[in-house]
Amino acid sequence: MHSFEMANIKYQLIKAETAWPHGGRIVVHKFLKISALCGIFLLIVCYSWSTCVTIIPSQGYSPSDCTGSTNDQYDASTEQTESSPDEKIYTSTRAQLIPFIRRNETLGPNILDNYFVYTSQCRMPALNPFARDALRIFKKTTYNTCDPSMDLISVVYDDGNQRYKLHMNEPKIKCCYKAILRSGNGAEADNKFKLLPCTYFPQDFVVPQRVDAVITECRRLKDKKLLQQDAFGFVQPAKHVGNRTTLNNSIVDQSPESRPSVLLWGIDSMSRMNFQRTMPLMYKYLRKENWYELQGYNKMGDNTFPNLMALLTGFNNTRSMSVCRPKSVAGLDACPLLWQTYRQLGYITAYAEDWGRFSTFNYNKKGFVKPPTDYYPRPLMLAVEKELKKVLVSRIPYCVGRRHYAEYIYDYAIQFTRVHKNQSTFGMFWTNSFSHNDFALPSSMDAKILEYMHTLQKNGIFEKSIILFFSDHGMRFGPLRSLDSGFLEERMPILYIWLPNWFRHKYPQFVHNLQLNRNRLTSPFDIHATLRHILELDTPLAELSRPEGCPSCHSIFYEVAESRDCRDAGITDHWCTCHTFKNNSLTDYHIKEISQQLINATNAYLVANNLTDVCQTLRLSNIESVQRKISLKAKAFESYLVRYEAQPENALFEASTDWNNKTQRISISVPDISRLDSYSQLSKCVEDNIAKKFCICYDYAELKP
Ligand SMILES: *[C@@H]1O[C@H](CO)[C@@H](O)[C@H](O)[C@H]1NC(C)=O
Ligand SMILES: *[C@@H]1O[C@H](CO)[C@@H](O)[C@H](O)[C@H]1NC(C)=O
Ligand SMILES: *[C@@H]1O[C@H](CO)[C@@H](O)[C@H](O)[C@H]1NC(C)=O
Ligand SMILES: *[C@@H]1O[C@H](CO)[C@@H](O)[C@H](O)[C@H]1NC(C)=O
Ligand SMILES: *[C@@H]1O[C@H](CO)[C@@H](O)[C@H](O)[C@H]1NC(C)=O
Ligand SMILES: *[C@@H]1O[C@H](CO)[C@@H](O)[C@H](O)[C@H]1NC(C)=O
Ligand SMILES: *[C@@H]1O[C@H](CO)[C@@H](O)[C@H](O)[C@H]1NC(C)=O
Ligand SMILES: *[C@@H]1O[C@H](CO)[C@@H](O)[C@H](O)[C@H]1NC(C)=O
Ligand SMILES: *[C@@H]1O[C@H](CO)[C@@H](O)[C@H](O)[C@H]1NC(C)=O
Repeated sequence: MHSFEMANIKYQLIKAETAWPHGGRIVVHKFLKISALCGIFLLIVCYSWSTCVTIIPSQGYSPSDCTGSTNDQYDASTEQTESSPDEKIYTSTRAQLIPFIRRNETLGPNILDNYFVYTSQCRMPALNPFARDALRIFKKTTYNTCDPSMDLISVVYDDGNQRYKLHMNEPKIKCCYKAILRSGNGAEADNKFKLLPCTYFPQDFVVPQRVDAVITECRRLKDKKLLQQDAFGFVQPAKHVGNRTTLNNSIVDQSPESRPSVLLWGIDSMSRMNFQRTMPLMYKYLRKENWYELQGYNKMGDNTFPNLMALLTGFNNTRSMSVCRPKSVAGLDACPLLWQTYRQLGYITAYAEDWGRFSTFNYNKKGFVKPPTDYYPRPLMLAVEKELKKVLVSRIPYCVGRRHYAEYIYDYAIQFTRVHKNQSTFGMFWTNSFSHNDFALPSSMDAKILEYMHTLQKNGIFEKSIILFFSDHGMRFGPLRSLDSGFLEERMPILYIWLPNWFRHKYPQFVHNLQLNRNRLTSPFDIHATLRHILELDTPLAELSRPEGCPSCHSIFYEVAESRDCRDAGITDHWCTCHTFKNNSLTDYHIKEISQQLINATNAYLVANNLTDVCQTLRLSNIESVQRKISLKAKAFESYLVRYEAQPENALFEASTDWNNKTQRISISVPDISRLDSYSQLSKCVEDNIAKKFCICYDYAELKP
């Protein structure tokens, strides 16, 4: 009988250095030196090119090797604000929102160096992630251990009898555990937890199977001094599997070859450019290991909820709100989320997410009355956030207790996949804590996530699972979003897919199509269709069901039409990155009118939502830039992308709007207007995510912490 360490992931992971081709620390130093030289070279290149070319071919030389060069001056103890005064300098004189592409320099055999998509109806520019303006505000951050002291408790999982044990690593201590339980009902079911009294346990204590999560405390024997608090989640196998086996025996025992497991590994707010910029190790790894990338992946809605709902339900935002009623108690429980389908077909399911109050289904929403998946460690997240010491970075808990917040999610993912290695599983593991507010902070987790990938690989998960490494959208606010490239940053999330080798052999045509689709326009609706397709791989395309929110979307294992445009992909004009833009004079007679109408529409929105008591009326103060959309098809109206400032507080907005020259009116959906500067501190008086973008609270000064 063998056992191995699991919850105590620290010791089980393969270190990033050993996975590096040459191994060892010296190589890391060498790497830094090379990257510094490379950085200088890049800067020279950038300086000499920046006046004429904003897009640098990404394949001639590898800019991804150069990210380490910027600087390392990062101090996790100082909270970074999203918009410091000098960042304003870069944003206030913007003239050209979307860098132009010089046609003559790009047309040719290597057109995809400059475009993610270059098809008859879609020209999606591929920007240089290492452009000068982005590098100027990017500060590489380092991974700091949250608690360097030695683990007083190790968790050991015994494969043989499928039990967890708690091992104390010191002789002269005693430790107790408080079981964490889901508690509360109705509206509070997803927001409350209960801690049972601390129970002392003996050495190599077998964790009872009903215990899913604990907070532990270890004390010195002689004077009972508290030495260490910690927290662990357990994926208790028998509990759910026993039940499921009787539920649908036929499926659970099938080989992985007929039922691939699905692992969704999501990082919030990660664009393709920012991924390459902040996570060079992962970027390189995914390419080297032959993951399939969708370079034409375009978000379909503003923030996390609509995009993840499109992926998990196939609904557009209107239907996500009306069918799934996230603001009503038990609304989401009745929502046909994809993991339910998987569960009904015998899969074991899990969903975990960090940052309790701001989780996808909880931020200004009611969450779930009943756990939505077999494994749902939300009580653990609520408990660690409340009970353990936190270190905030950019106002999000970064370290919680002895670990990075994201590591609780990743450790859980490792356990879930490992414990159920011999069953078909569907797990979604989503993190916000290191990527949502500070676009540079993911650089601190790059090597760490690579370690997790190696652990999955070592545990054999890659042989049975289709894995999505993806995001919902790019950075939506803050200094990165305010750059010229911000429009594209926001709209182009990463999406990589891992296919097990048996799958590649069994379905070569799917793999071929997937490779082709790398540079076609795709959306979260296609991913929804794909995840459904995985459940019936032998069903022909014509018989597969289509996402309700986008009936022309389909599994990406089938070729996406060359002629696809954003509408075909379920992406509305405002979020579409297929258009080319042309600089427009700020003095054209109708530009002021358009901008004023945008402000008026926003004020009308505040009135309609009864927010004028708490939110100030906006006044147009400056038009920063205007671009006119060059449509590939003839259009009845001109479309403009306008970036403008309003008082109070120099609030910075960006809107894409149609202009009807006959009626002299714009058409705009106010909720789609983007707010580019950081606004969370100014909008605390309102709850609604959309209203927050437009509300400058009267009394925000007093609300500031
Ligand atoms: C750009 O392309 C056009 C047509 O292909 C050609 O006539 C023109 O000379 C090119 N200009 C430059 C600067 O290369
Ligand atoms: C099995 O599932 C049923 C209904 O889903 C539940 O009531 C029961 O407690 C479960 N049994 C175990 C052992 O988990
Ligand atoms: C069990 O699996 C079969 C397919 O093998 C499926 O048709 C049936 O609906 C499943 N039953 C349950 C209760 O999920
Ligand atoms: C999975 O199955 C293999 C072979 O049947 C067995 O050796 C292994 O212990 C099982 N693993 C788990 C986690 O159940
Ligand atoms: C959303 O989908 C429904 C039906 O699926 C459709 O009637 C509606 O027009 C769509 N809404 C938007 C904004 O596209
Ligand atoms: C775009 O237009 C603005 C305002 O008219 C102007 O200042 C700027 O130089 C233009 N940029 C380019 C690249 O033409
Ligand atoms: C905007 O609203 C103001 C005040 O209500 C009004 O005077 C003005 O005519 C409006 N402008 C436009 C362009 O609608
Ligand atoms: C608007 O707000 C006021 C007080 O804030 C409240 O009395 C009123 O009912 C609200 N009206 C609507 C339509 O929500
Ligand atoms: C818009 O209308 C004005 C007058 O109504 C006219 O002078 C102008 O040329 C028109 N512009 C376009 C682009 O059609």
